[in-house]
Amino acid sequence: MKLSSTEAISPVVSVELLLHPYDLAAALRQDVGEGLTASPKWLPPKWFYDDRGSQLFESITTLPEYYPTRCERAILTRYAEEIADACPASTLGRTGIGGFDKTTLLLDALARRGTLRRFVPFDVSEGTLRLAAARLARQYPGLEVAAVVGDFERHLDAIARPSHRRRLMAFLGGTIGNLDPDQRATFFKRVAAGMRPGDGLLLGTDLVKDVEPLEAAYDDASGVTAAFNLNVLEVVNRQLGADFDFGRFRHLSRWDPEHEWVEMRLRSTTDQRVSLPALDLNLGFLEGEEVRTEISAKFRRPGVAAELAGAGLEVCHWWTDSGGDFACSLSFRRS
Ligand code: SAH
Ligand code: TRP
Repeated sequence: MKLSSTEAISPVVSVELLLHPYDLAAALRQDVGEGLTASPKWLPPKWFYDDRGSQLFESITTLPEYYPTRCERAILTRYAEEIADACPASTLGRTGIGGFDKTTLLLDALARRGTLRRFVPFDVSEGTLRLAAARLARQYPGLEVAAVVGDFERHLDAIARPSHRRRLMAFLGGTIGNLDPDQRATFFKRVAAGMRPGDGLLLGTDLVKDVEPLEAAYDDASGVTAAFNLNVLEVVNRQLGADFDFGRFRHLSRWDPEHEWVEMRLRSTTDQRVSLPALDLNLGFLEGEEVRTEISAKFRRPGVAAELAGAGLEVCHWWTDSGGDFACSLSFRRS
């Protein structure tokens, strides 16, 4: 059984598989077994992103209600040169690869500075990663594209290989907010452990704001977000042979003012039973019972700085869009 393999799909693109389909299946079984037998029930968000889920997420990013992608793109459009000046890296790493144009804004700025050699896109969703890697290699002849299929909670070392020169690691889209505070602390420590002096972490964080735009961003009028959330049940049906009936669950988004995060949930609209043969489980859901599928934490500047400081990182730059809805920060290791 091979645990890791690297395969070339064109002279300049390689794909390293740290997560094989059988690893994914085992991890999904474990997560679903743990989450759906807990009280209250939950499912972890990485399972949203099969090919269909990744496509639905791309549609979410163009919805009028979903402001984070637009705001972050505006920040990168305006400040990519400043980012490249502050961290003229030869390797750009990107964990969570949605939003193709955000990658090209950063690559273009680094290419103009003449330092860029290598791009390391990293994602759990293999199909989406391959498409993006191939497209980028075509668009940037000479750029070495070393894609990694992995879980950023487990395989971050793949980005921080010692042989590389200066690195900029971009973690955009507010995806950091999908981790809870303990998971974030672990994540930042691992990132910092792989950074050398001069390496930068570019982090996208959605900011605390009024409740209405926040809840609307996660519950759009056209129902794309609902379809995205329900898609996780489809993943469980397909991979674990379960018989979730999507018609009997409803998508919800709720702002939690105490934790300052939006919670996505699926609410059972009737009393029902669902069987999961791969886990030998038969689960009961009560009418109104909710499964938590994701949190999306929103941040304030002092909180971001404190979390990064906890991992030995110092925020040296903080850029926001004109409305102050979203921020990108650039941090380095404290010397
Ligand atoms: N960063 C993007 C997209 C956010 S969606 C943006 O700027 O808009 C989250 C992305 O992270 C998806 O591409 C998903 O496949 C990936 N992802 C989610 N959980 C992950 C995990 N644990 N490890 C690696 N990638 C993950
Ligand atoms: N990282 C995205 C975010 O938190 C993911 C996302 C957007 C999402 N809309 C969603 C996840 C709806 C679940 C349901 O903004």
